[in-house]
Amino acid sequence: MTTFHRIFRWICKWKCISRQTEAELIDGPGLPLEAGLSVFSGQHEIYFREYRPVHAATYTSLMHLAKGRQSDRMTSPNLQNHVALVTGGSRGIGAAVVRSLAGAGAAVVINYRERTDAAQSLVAGIEKQGGRAIAIGADVAQNDAVVDMFNRAAQAFGPVDILVNNAGIAITRNIDDLTEADFDRTIEVNLKSVFLCMQAALPAMRRKRWGRIVNISSGAARGAGSIGPHYNASKAGIEGLTRGYAARLVKEGITVNAVAPSLIETDMMKEQQALVARIPLGRFGTSDEVAQAVMSLIGNAYMTGQTIALSGGMAFN
Ligand SMILES: NC(=O)c1ccc[n+]([C@@H]2O[C@H](COP(=O)([O-])OP(=O)(O)OC[C@H]3O[C@@H](n4cnc5c(N)ncnc54)[C@H](OP(=O)(O)O)[C@@H]3O)[C@@H](O)[C@H]2O)c1
Repeated sequence: MTTFHRIFRWICKWKCISRQTEAELIDGPGLPLEAGLSVFSGQHEIYFREYRPVHAATYTSLMHLAKGRQSDRMTSPNLQNHVALVTGGSRGIGAAVVRSLAGAGAAVVINYRERTDAAQSLVAGIEKQGGRAIAIGADVAQNDAVVDMFNRAAQAFGPVDILVNNAGIAITRNIDDLTEADFDRTIEVNLKSVFLCMQAALPAMRRKRWGRIVNISSGAARGAGSIGPHYNASKAGIEGLTRGYAARLVKEGITVNAVAPSLIETDMMKEQQALVARIPLGRFGTSDEVAQAVMSLIGNAYMTGQTIALSGGMAFN
């Protein structure tokens, strides 16, 4: 028996994995250590289903975790002394980003539009773990509401230096049914909000000469998507804003990037389950996988003006 096999067996025993599951996992093509780490992280279901080794980031994170350095995960920079604001942070992708930021030590402002209960229960969960968070309801399409939100955030925790523009709506329409009101509301919520929040956040970031902005775009910025042309336009606009701001802020210690997920399992995709057939990887992405990409951008001082796509193999840049 190799050292890898011994470690694998020890992890399976510790995690109460049955001998049959252990045997099936070890028959996969990955290294026994990777199979063991997937058990360690609770990701063995995914490993098991796909028979693929856990990817390098998870592997490294787990090695750090195993050494008790939870705050030093490769994809989670240490964000103690930072203040983050996540628009649309109460549910779905935004909530996963909020949890990752709080887990990395940031004080987090959770913006939402109307579901106060969801936002407050996220705050309670973070505080229970020893983190700091507040929830602020504000329509990010309205400039007054945005300015007021940033003022309240600064009063609570100090100036925001990490901004994740995630709030968005998806009004599914065929060309014949698409109205001017649908178009205007989509552009206001998905695109104009990104402009308003960046303008509100930038003065403090520029004073500090440090800032991280991550905008949540979509595969629909470059592909046809399933929502409609108004949604395509709003997301393509986000990527234009991202490049435009990034280029002008590059010398001020502020990075601006975008993450473009395709089909992610959230409330937004509830009615779109049939779309899974289009994904080469055979499943929707998870909000945590998007959060992982966001965290890696926040931890990277050299990457700016870029869009990272998460498409399960549907699109390649
Ligand atoms: N899910 C996907 O497959 C997918 C794919 C590509 C891109 N995206 C993008 O990823 C982002 C998050 O998507 P999701 O699937 O997590 O969405 P979701 O589950 O529908 O959550 C949307 C969030 O945005 C908030 N929100 C909506 N309009 C707002 C407004 N005017 N002001 C403030 N907050 C507002 C909601 O607040 P309330 O809870 O109060 O309503 C909620 O927190 C969106 O920009 C979306 O376009 C999603």
